[in-house]
Amino acid sequence: MKLLVIGSGGREHAVVRALKKSPRVNEIHVLPGNGGIAEDAVCAPVSATDVEGVVAYARAHGIDYAVVTPDDPLCLGMVGALGEAGIPAFGPDRRAAEIEGSKVFAKGLMRKYGIPTAAYEVFDEVDAALEYVRRRGAPIVVKADGLALGKGVVAAATVAEAERAVKSAMVDRAFGDNGARVVIEEYLEGPEISVLSFTDGNTIVPMVSSMDHKRALDGDQGPNTGGMGTVAPNPYYTPEVAAECMERIFLPTVRAMNAEGRPFRGCLYFGLMLTKDGPKVIEYNCRFGDPETQVVLPLLRTDLLDIMEAVTAGRLSEVEVRWADECACCVILASGGYPGAYEKGLPIMGLEGGQLPGGEAEVFHAGTKRLPDGSLVTNGGRVLGVTALAESLPEAIERAYAAAGGIRFEKLHMRRDIGARALAALGERR
Ligand code: AMP
Ligand code: GLY
Repeated sequence: MKLLVIGSGGREHAVVRALKKSPRVNEIHVLPGNGGIAEDAVCAPVSATDVEGVVAYARAHGIDYAVVTPDDPLCLGMVGALGEAGIPAFGPDRRAAEIEGSKVFAKGLMRKYGIPTAAYEVFDEVDAALEYVRRRGAPIVVKADGLALGKGVVAAATVAEAERAVKSAMVDRAFGDNGARVVIEEYLEGPEISVLSFTDGNTIVPMVSSMDHKRALDGDQGPNTGGMGTVAPNPYYTPEVAAECMERIFLPTVRAMNAEGRPFRGCLYFGLMLTKDGPKVIEYNCRFGDPETQVVLPLLRTDLLDIMEAVTAGRLSEVEVRWADECACCVILASGGYPGAYEKGLPIMGLEGGQLPGGEAEVFHAGTKRLPDGSLVTNGGRVLGVTALAESLPEAIERAYAAAGGIRFEKLHMRRDIGARALAALGERR
């Protein structure tokens, strides 16, 4: 089969490398891809948000099946557009993608169907929003309604910070019309758990749980980023927590989307917080997480294409999804300065054909570019993700860091404590 994957990050590289293991896959195309993905697939310069361009490319290249992973093409309706062109695609249609595309929709869904989440109010008028913030006090969380490149959420420690977040979204329109409405919600505390799941709208199969590290600096300091590293499984996700999530969150969400006439088919991502009152939903995403995918898919032992096609066809119940009984750690190598301003075009040393020559870990490319002379250079904030597997979490962490140490570029920044909180949780339990 000829596959098409849309996107250009480390997540897409992990999806491509998992799909390549399928004996049914002959060829993978990626739009637009990056310097490292080009080692594994045919890349072409069509933007991931150019719906017409992607459909035209898929038609011209005889694509049999497409996988749409980033949020914006999903929210733009790319899956439906490919379907109309006769090309089946993995991912929710536009109406189901609203579960991530609109926080107001997602919060309304949870309120209507009794799914545990932070208490909240919605505002489309700035004075009312400011009045509410002053009345409720800090800490408090301000969220832009629409997609905001992961920057639309401010967990404010003070009222002044919350007021600035409200004004930035609603008055300065930092996120354009996507911040015209805001959700203001209760500040929750507890460890975070990411659970990606496959669902065809009837059956839901959670994947191995994981833990993201969103802050730029060690000890969870510094600004929020797209994610600086992940471990899987997440030790806070015990069998008891998993059972409670299935009963109170996962199944009710799938049923709620059906009841709203928006059946969800694809990867549904639950961002959870384990509060003292039990697990609550922090956010839904309509897609695979990045960099969660870089630790979850390497542990998958069932053919990913088989699962994806079953999701699209509504027969997920027929597939047995199996996982390695191992642990994984992904360390992100970022450009110095990220998530603020950073330099691009710096030569990357230590890789051969985009991978580590010893093969001790897998390298997923995010912001990399191959120059005409064949050299590989940095081309984004998050540059590479290095994933190692092992029988235990401490070993996986050690291997990932040992492997990451073999890669160099100027001003490279990585956190040194990916997995530390997970290890502490394991220690507490002994
Ligand atoms: P998001 O952009 O929705 O992934 O949110 C970014 C981060 O903000 C989350 O990973 C949480 O750490 C934090 N966050 C979001 N909502 C809340 C909340 N209600 N209480 C505390 N922290 C939150
Ligand atoms: N790692 C968080 C996300 O993909 O949204």
